[in-house]
Amino acid sequence: MAEAEIDQTDEHQYFEGRAYGRPTPTTDEELVRVGPGTKGGELLRRYWQPFALADEATSKPQHVSVLDECLVLYRDGDGNPGLLYPRCMHRGTDLIYGKVEQTGIRCCYHGWVFDSQGHCLEIPTETNEKLRQRIRQPWYPVMEKFGLLFTYMGPPELQPGFPTFSLEDDLGESERIVSYRSDSGPNGPHPKLSAASDYNWWQMYDNWMDPFHVCVLHYSINGPQFSPSLGILPEVDFRETADGVISIQKRVRAEGPVQQRISQVIMPNMNCTAGVTDEELGVAGIGWTVPIDDTSYVMFGLVRIDRENPVSPPDIPMLQDHWGPDHGKPFAEWTLEDHQQWQTDYVAQKGQGDITSHSEEHLMAGDKGTALSRRFFRRQAELVASGQQPIGATPNVSYRVEILGGNALLDRETGECVAGYAATT
Ligand code: FES
Ligand SMILES: [Fe+2]
Repeated sequence: MAEAEIDQTDEHQYFEGRAYGRPTPTTDEELVRVGPGTKGGELLRRYWQPFALADEATSKPQHVSVLDECLVLYRDGDGNPGLLYPRCMHRGTDLIYGKVEQTGIRCCYHGWVFDSQGHCLEIPTETNEKLRQRIRQPWYPVMEKFGLLFTYMGPPELQPGFPTFSLEDDLGESERIVSYRSDSGPNGPHPKLSAASDYNWWQMYDNWMDPFHVCVLHYSINGPQFSPSLGILPEVDFRETADGVISIQKRVRAEGPVQQRISQVIMPNMNCTAGVTDEELGVAGIGWTVPIDDTSYVMFGLVRIDRENPVSPPDIPMLQDHWGPDHGKPFAEWTLEDHQQWQTDYVAQKGQGDITSHSEEHLMAGDKGTALSRRFFRRQAELVASGQQPIGATPNVSYRVEILGGNALLDRETGECVAGYAATT
């Protein structure tokens, strides 16, 4: 069934409709799988992906999982972050037990030393230098930028340049770009994987193009979780852009300017979503929803901060350290009863299961943004599968990421922007 349409001839759904005999649920494999060789996974591998905060790479090796690959992250004495396949290519000992040295990591078993590009620098028990020089521990490149570590996990000959972001344009003296990992709050943290959420990444990514749930989940179900004005049912225009999808939401308040909020997704896994308070007028930051594996993900982001004109910390329930039915109880300790009293994006998304069954969905007009995002992603994945380049992933070329997302106030009569950021769309 095409998305955003319901098959009204489906008697099972529209007549008797009992649970008995319902079709076996299926999931859209192209969307949800992220490992090597999967359609979606190969698309995601054509882009630089953030995977850790820069200060997490230290002389103590640690496992990190990205796109369903477990890797070892460390930083050598010269300051180079290394991201290596964990099984030592000699006899397979995990390099997490290695000793980090000035120029690389030494496997604990027989002492082979590898640098951050996998070159073998030393084999204590071998004198054949030529053999040593031919050896390469599998590795991925790492780029350190904005306080984040990014990696490119695709074919080496197709590696794109590192992107530039319109968020960096005309940075004033008092302004800077700060990065974050979404460690807590509405989506987590995961009980085992710190700072991650424990379900398929698309269940989060769908949400960026779903402005209507804001008025329900974040308002009518629980009372206001964001600024009161966001509870107004918006008029929404969904549009495809050159590299993704936007939703232009207009909220007409009782008086004063119209509030405009543009949310954006940029393929394959970026989003630009502005703040959820009335004070946060202006351009949106940039976020990445990065799959750890098929059933967990982590989010990273960049925001532009002006130290001279800081936006005061929002005093709204969703953004407090400990919000919900029992202020003071960390999210990880919430019981089922707590979640039934105060529902969040977490239960709405995790409630679909570890990986949702797309065959059981019934998308309506309000889901158009979600449908457009999924279609765009599938089209891009198909390009990769047929040997072509997806948008923004030209070898050696740096793609410019244009932010359209942002909050603005529009004159009630003329529709002119009177404050904030209203991108030309
Ligand atoms: S297993 Fe790593 S050096 Fe032998
Ligand atoms: Fe939400």
